[in-house]
Amino acid sequence: MESGKRVLLIISGGIAAYKSQELIRDLHRREIAVRCILTDAGSYFVTPFSLAALTGDKVYLDLFSLTDESEMGHIELSRDADLVVVAPATANILAKMRTGIADDLATTTLLATDKQVMIAPAMNVRMWQHAATQENITILQERGMQVIGPEEGEMACGEYGMGRMSEPVLIAEAIENFFRNAGQTSEEPQKSLIGKKAIITSGPTHEAIDPVRYLANHSSGRQGHAIAKALAALGAETVLVSGPTQLADPANVAVKHVQSAEDMLAACEAALPADIMVCAAAVADWRVANPPQEKIKKNGVMPSLELIENPDILANVSQLAKNRPALVIGFAAETKDVVSYAQAKLAKKGCDWIVANDVSPETGTFGGENNTVHVIDAETIEDWPILSKEDIGQKLAARIATYLENIPT
Ligand code: PMT
Repeated sequence: MESGKRVLLIISGGIAAYKSQELIRDLHRREIAVRCILTDAGSYFVTPFSLAALTGDKVYLDLFSLTDESEMGHIELSRDADLVVVAPATANILAKMRTGIADDLATTTLLATDKQVMIAPAMNVRMWQHAATQENITILQERGMQVIGPEEGEMACGEYGMGRMSEPVLIAEAIENFFRNAGQTSEEPQKSLIGKKAIITSGPTHEAIDPVRYLANHSSGRQGHAIAKALAALGAETVLVSGPTQLADPANVAVKHVQSAEDMLAACEAALPADIMVCAAAVADWRVANPPQEKIKKNGVMPSLELIENPDILANVSQLAKNRPALVIGFAAETKDVVSYAQAKLAKKGCDWIVANDVSPETGTFGGENNTVHVIDAETIEDWPILSKEDIGQKLAARIATYLENIPT
């Protein structure tokens, strides 16, 4: 490839391995060369022959093969790439990466590499939710590895939930972003928010109906978590107040896990004072008045639920007389008249900016990788193009930094 961009793709043994072929094709379209390591288990799902045909290169399989080691040993394999991508990454390979087990070519290369590693997990929902996997992924993120997905959806095992590997196009976009950022500068990003403190709300809230049931919404927390990550990357002391999500806690961020709107408000108040507040959570507007202590029995009589209004965290913080953050940003989730409804919310709640997004089901905003937002303040409306939620987080963090640099102290 003329671009000179090279990815070492490690394919471990999951049904999603078949998608690695589409990933290779997509990367080639983006002028990114791919060399593959296929694990033993991976070779049950995709053959070395098809991968060799697609990559136009030898496929590396065996740590103890004299030909493999003399042609291109595990150190050279990593040395020869700009980025190492594990897709699909099974629960097994994640556990080995976390503990440093190196018992085959893939894991030995992963232990030996000094290159950026990107992981696209794929597994059954319960394997993903298992405390061991969640702990492993958190540690790997803390070590600087970038995690793409997984997604929620139908699984090969017939179950539904979080654990499907992200679509190849999304992984390819993340890889392209890596090369774009690497090309921009080799220096550390400017830490323009050092000395500032930020509080971000993210995810849905769960409002109890009884001890086993709750009211909720479709928020995945991706947008809020991406903003927290981007603010932390600019050096802000960052507190993420998150409702229940499937996401790993971002590195370098203090995460307060909460359930309900009332818990979320209490956690935000406890985290104040701060310079920046970003309310990206989809907080339930109502909760059930006096939820019973015991499970409501199904006995032929329809229960009637009395709903009462939840506290409005954004409005509360925006209207604080004391300890109001210098910049308070809300989100507006709308399904029609997005900008005008958002402008009305900006005025009603008293925040400084509002980030409006369309959450109609066909947009895929809830839970998806991408978002299209309009950043609105009292004077201006900025329409941003469709971007990944990560990119929106970074663009918003940069806008926040510029704003804070320019307000008179
Ligand atoms: O989590 P994802 O799947 O990535 O999806 C992202 C998102 C769609 C959830 C996010 O981009 C978004 O729009 N978040 C705000 C969702 C929302 O509740 O919007 P709203 O228009 O109902 O509320 C307006 C603002 O008031 C929001 O900043 C909200 O956090 C805040 N609010 C609302 C009610 C309440 N009781 N307390 C609040 O703080």
